[in-house]
Parts: sequence; C-alpha cells; structure tokens
Amino acid sequence: MVSENEQFELIINNILADGYGICDNFFTEIEVENLIQSYKNRFKTGVFKPAKIGEKIEEKIELEIRGDQIFWMEQNEINSAEKVFFAKIKSFIQYLNMTCYLGIKNEEFHYAKYGNGKFYRRHRDSFQLKKNRIFSVILYLNKGWVVADGGNLVIYLQKNGLENPIEINPIAGRLVCFESEKLDHEVMETFTDRLSITGWLLNN
Ligand code: OGA
Ligand code: NI
Repeated sequence: MVSENEQFELIINNILADGYGICDNFFTEIEVENLIQSYKNRFKTGVFKPAKIGEKIEEKIELEIRGDQIFWMEQNEINSAEKVFFAKIKSFIQYLNMTCYLGIKNEEFHYAKYGNGKFYRRHRDSFQLKKNRIFSVILYLNKGWVVADGGNLVIYLQKNGLENPIEINPIAGRLVCFESEKLDHEVMETFTDRLSITGWLLNN
C-alpha cells in the first residue's frame, strides 16, 4: 500500500518526465465502488446532459466531435463518496502547490458517460478566451474493462518534433493527469458504457 504522498509524487514525476501522469488504484477498490454507485444513482435521476464543446456550433456537428453525457458535481450538494473524492483531489492540489508552486486555486469536475459508439475527437482542454485550466484530471470507473470495450484515451505526445501517440486503457481506479494547455488528446470510440470523473485544476 503506497501512501497518498507517494501517489502524488509518482504522478508529478511522471508528468515532468513524460508529459502526463498515471496512477493506478488512486482510490481504493471500495472508494471506486462507492463512486460507481453514486454515478449510477445520479444517472437514474436524469441529470446527465449532452456535453458541449467550447465554441458555438450546430448540435449535429457537435455530436460528430463529442458524444458523452455529463453531470457537473456541485460541491455543496455532494454525497459521502463524492466527499472522499474531493478531499483527495484537494490534498493533491495542496501537494502540487507546495512542491511545484503552481497556484492552483480551484477545481471543477463532472461525471462523464460515453455510451456504445461514442467518442471525443482530438482536442485540447483549454479555451481560447478563458485560460484557467492548469491540469486535466481523469478518474476512470470501468470495472472489468477489456480491450474489446474500446474507449482508450489517446494522448498525442511530441518527441523530437515527431508525434508519438500513446493509448491509455480506462480501467477502474486509474487516474490520469496532464497539463491542459499542452497536450492534444482523444477518446476512442467505446463499445460499452464508459464512465469517468473528469475535471480541471484551475488557477482562479
Ligand atoms: C475531456 C477528455 C478524456 C477521457 O473530457 O475533455 O478529454 O479519457 N476526457 O475521458
Ligand atoms: Ni479533453
């Protein structure tokens, strides 16, 4: 069992070395299970809505870019599983600010569900006008994920001027973190429901 700080350290070292960080079992199996339950309860109430992209474009075109449904987590109305989630994210933020002087002041997270056949084409997570996203953070909630399920995250790294795409399987308990303004990435088509909590560490 690695300590919280060791997990944070691993993610930061990965980001510095490779441009992105991965930490498996970021949350315990029980914590992940509770988040899956909490996702299911929320989804049942019909609060998930089709996700939008930054620019204003036709809905039809939007769907050709991004097909997930999302629900923003409001920290004044979260359940116990989500409290555990935010507590650890906040302690990660504290660690980042303390060790890397990043000045992260806030965070925003949503649940995301990609149904069969959905994807999110290559994009970057920062907006033209509002550049407040420092880190993108994704926690996957897919128990029993297998290769045939698809839905890999592709991160387009640049190496000596050449593009080097790497694929990450969206397995339960895995956390991925990268600088929002730096990396293009993409969610490959999924062939089963693909669940995650996705969010951003913000500088305002
Ligand atoms: C996003 C995104 C990646 C993933 O929501 O902006 O790129 O693996 N998500 O879900
Ligand atoms: Ni993204």
